[in-house]
Amino acid sequence: MNAPLPQAVADRDAALRMTGISKRFGPVQALCEVTFHTRAGSVHALVGENGAGKSTLMKILAGVYQPDSGSIEIHGKPQILANPAQAIEAGVSMIYQELDLAEHLTVAENIFLGAEPQGPLPFTVSHHQMAAQTRRLAEQYNFRIPPDAKVEDLSTGDCQIVEILKSLRRNASIIVMDEPTSSLSERETVRLFEVVRQLRKRGLSIIYISHRLEEIVELADEVSVLRDGQLVHSESITQLDIPKIVHHMVGRELTDFFPQRKANIGDVILEVAGLSSEAGVRDVAFQIRRGEIVGMAGLVGAGRTEIARAIFGVDARTSGRIVLEGRELDVTCPADAIASGIALLTEDRKRTGLCLQLPCSWNITLPNLAQIGMKSLICPAQEHRIAAEAGARMAVKWAGPEAPTDSLSGGNQQKLLIARWLLAHSTFMIFDEPTRGIDVGAKAEVYGLLNRLAEQGKALLFISSELPELFGIADRILVMRRGKLVGNLVTKQTTPEEVMHLAAVEEN
Ligand SMILES: Nc1ncnc2c1ncn2[C@@H]1O[C@H](COP(=O)(O)OP(=O)(O)OP(=O)(O)O)[C@@H](O)[C@H]1O
Ligand SMILES: [Mg+2]
Repeated sequence: MNAPLPQAVADRDAALRMTGISKRFGPVQALCEVTFHTRAGSVHALVGENGAGKSTLMKILAGVYQPDSGSIEIHGKPQILANPAQAIEAGVSMIYQELDLAEHLTVAENIFLGAEPQGPLPFTVSHHQMAAQTRRLAEQYNFRIPPDAKVEDLSTGDCQIVEILKSLRRNASIIVMDEPTSSLSERETVRLFEVVRQLRKRGLSIIYISHRLEEIVELADEVSVLRDGQLVHSESITQLDIPKIVHHMVGRELTDFFPQRKANIGDVILEVAGLSSEAGVRDVAFQIRRGEIVGMAGLVGAGRTEIARAIFGVDARTSGRIVLEGRELDVTCPADAIASGIALLTEDRKRTGLCLQLPCSWNITLPNLAQIGMKSLICPAQEHRIAAEAGARMAVKWAGPEAPTDSLSGGNQQKLLIARWLLAHSTFMIFDEPTRGIDVGAKAEVYGLLNRLAEQGKALLFISSELPELFGIADRILVMRRGKLVGNLVTKQTTPEEVMHLAAVEEN
């Protein structure tokens, strides 16, 4: 009974020990004396508001940043992770949200990148061995991924699986996933969870960052909460629930998550008729009234973003009319759309929303240049002032409007983008997944904002993959499937089941 624990079990308690980690970026104290431990064979969720320091802590673990102070031990061994290669060597694998695979190479080539098995002749690579080993590894985990498929042809979910296989090939014992489900479909998310559970069963230590607290409750064994760079709480999930986690994150109760809607809906502002585009939108028609928030549901790939792009003049229209406030628009590029009073907050802020290398202020004023100068001259002082005000309105956490945009945390970049479009004073605004990657408090702020914009008499199209938020705020819900509009429902008269059914079920 009192026999000492076998070594393997004793080691379970010490996969990772990060102790007293601090990190400062110029004026911002991103982390302050953080102590964070994880165990083998467990999923440890790391949560916190935007800018709390989650990604910074994990980048220190991955050797990307050096801490100003503190120490790291992996399986009981002190480590100095001076660069990413040393972190990989120590068994840490980081799966970023923007996956860093070589798109033009195959699955097997990616998995063996930098460690290719030698072929029969010197200086050659054995593609046969790479494929065979990849297949073997994939089979162990029941992944169905052809080793010779090109990564550029894979879905986001499959790319993640390739990243995970790459980590396993390198014998990682700690895998960090930073917001892994934010661009996955429902089905891919379910599969990712199965994979994470398998990894846990095999004794790996998974660190899981997400703003979707339902996922945390479903998947995690332990939860640690960061607030303003400090670790404020760490506990087993059995002792926690969503309201308790939120309380630790924001330091207060969050009431009124969705605002009270005062429906004051007027005449039709936007009319779309017979809209088709080269990108696969097929004969779509709908109207949005003054003061109305119209939600748009659909599975990933159903054509929701493509509608936004067709209206905004990004994708060429092959047919259809767009009428705004009684005027038929001839939009052939985004500049036309902006000039006509349309705003589009894109779903992929890094690729189609922001210029990451530019100062925050430039990103805010980019579609609003007419407000900050005369003719073609820009007044820098005015730009600074207007950007500072716009940022403050959205409570963007930054060193100042001149800070480089890529120094902002993911969620704060999203707020920056919203600040930009608020400044544009458009009559019709499209929000494509505006709450992706932002924390619970900021989500509530965005819902409040949508509500206020509607009350000011704007027409809003709100595209989202999360049904609860569509049901929480939209007056009507449009449902898309395969490029077609298959449902136009009054929110109060429908159910999530009906929406899901329309979005997913193929009729003949
Ligand atoms: N390279 C950098 N240069 C300057 N400041 C930075 C840099 N990286 C992060 N920061 C700052 O450090 C703080 C913590 O950022 P971090 O990215 O770790 O937050 P996060 O918890 O991951 O937030 P999110 O949920 O929005 O992704 C933020 O205030 C951010 O602006
Ligand atoms: Mg982050």
